[in-house]
Amino acid sequence: MKQLFEQHITQLQSVVRSALEQAQLAGLWIHAGTAHSHFLDDQSAPFRINPHFNYVFPDPLAENSWLFLDGVNPPKVYFYAPQDYWHCTPSPPTDAFFGEFFQWQIMTQANEITAFLGNVQHCAFIGENVVFAENLGFSHINPKKVLNVLHFARSIKSEFEIACLYQAQFNALKGHQAAKQAFFAGESEFEINLAYLRASEQSDSRVPYGNIVALNQHGAILHYTHLDLARPAERHSLLIDAGASYLGYASDITRSYALDSKSEFAELIAKMDQLKLNVVDSLAVGVNYLAYHTQMHQWIADLLAEHQFIKLSGEQIFEEGISRTFFPHGLGHQLGLQVHDVAGFQQNVRGTHKAPPEAYPSLRCTRDLAPNMVLTIEPGFYFIEMLLTQWLSHPLSSYFNWDKIRQFQRFGGIRTEDNVVIRLEKAENLTAKAEQNLK
Ligand code: GLY
Ligand code: MN
Ligand code: MN
Repeated sequence: MKQLFEQHITQLQSVVRSALEQAQLAGLWIHAGTAHSHFLDDQSAPFRINPHFNYVFPDPLAENSWLFLDGVNPPKVYFYAPQDYWHCTPSPPTDAFFGEFFQWQIMTQANEITAFLGNVQHCAFIGENVVFAENLGFSHINPKKVLNVLHFARSIKSEFEIACLYQAQFNALKGHQAAKQAFFAGESEFEINLAYLRASEQSDSRVPYGNIVALNQHGAILHYTHLDLARPAERHSLLIDAGASYLGYASDITRSYALDSKSEFAELIAKMDQLKLNVVDSLAVGVNYLAYHTQMHQWIADLLAEHQFIKLSGEQIFEEGISRTFFPHGLGHQLGLQVHDVAGFQQNVRGTHKAPPEAYPSLRCTRDLAPNMVLTIEPGFYFIEMLLTQWLSHPLSSYFNWDKIRQFQRFGGIRTEDNVVIRLEKAENLTAKAEQNLK
């Protein structure tokens, strides 16, 4: 990891130089951030680090710490390690593999930073707390020119970052194995989630996003995070979307299961898995992500025709926009320090924005694929009441096989999601590779 990190930091220094040049500034002060307090309370939400801090310093727990970078000298970390007998405080990871690439300053009080800041007139502040930055004398706070360069750089991962994203697969996959067993053992959503957390060695405040553990028709709620305590009377299906984190880098993996492996629903799951793998196989540098999203809609339209959910040809189903009712989200998104990583719409270092087309407002990536981008591929196929209802009074309603659709609503839906790296030759499926190595 040390060698990879050395390359990462060298690349990053050149990104910082270019950001500073664009904005005509002398240095970046990056604040890790502070946990958000609850209103009128002395408790706080779990700490989420400023991803730009984590991008430089791979420790997502470094609350209240600071970094200074000028793109030339080794980055300086002002690590906050208070003396505190109420809370478990982090010990400075000076001996970690990345330790030697930083100049260290330990702070025992958060406000010690004022003594180190000096004249910040020609420096940018990168962080969440704008008022705090103003009070410290910054006038360049999260300047767009700097953020555009950093965000664009973050979407092309270093080999160090790819290694972290690969590591993040393993605990998630162990969690998925345990969740699958819990499902077939008849456990509730709550219990399946516990099995996931235990096997993936995470508390629910450390998972990269709220786990989606959806039995039966709950699979039709795209971001279902409710976790029913009760075991349902009948079990048909499980959709579980859950990840893990490694040094702040996230995995984002979804699996769907049918209780009856001989059912048509099980057959649909297998077909969706295959469609996902077909997309992964076809990912190529220079092609816009929208092309794959559109292709997936055509395939799902074919599936709707083949399984006679809709009595029209695949082509007609696609043209009429019917596939959007069954697959109403995007094919995937960039993945990194954030689960929905930055710069999905950003076309260049200058920050040119390309919105998704009107037909696909939920698509989170309009980029041309480039080597070392990391993306999810996550096609879905759902029976969502709210979206189906819109067709009831539509002239094409008579082509809908309503009886069959109603029968399948008890399964909720299917999503299957892997994490892939774009490479010059052929995309690399990090999830599939980790699954192989876990066996
Ligand atoms: N887990 C959220 C997503 O798949 O985008
Ligand atoms: Mn997901
Ligand atoms: Mn995802």
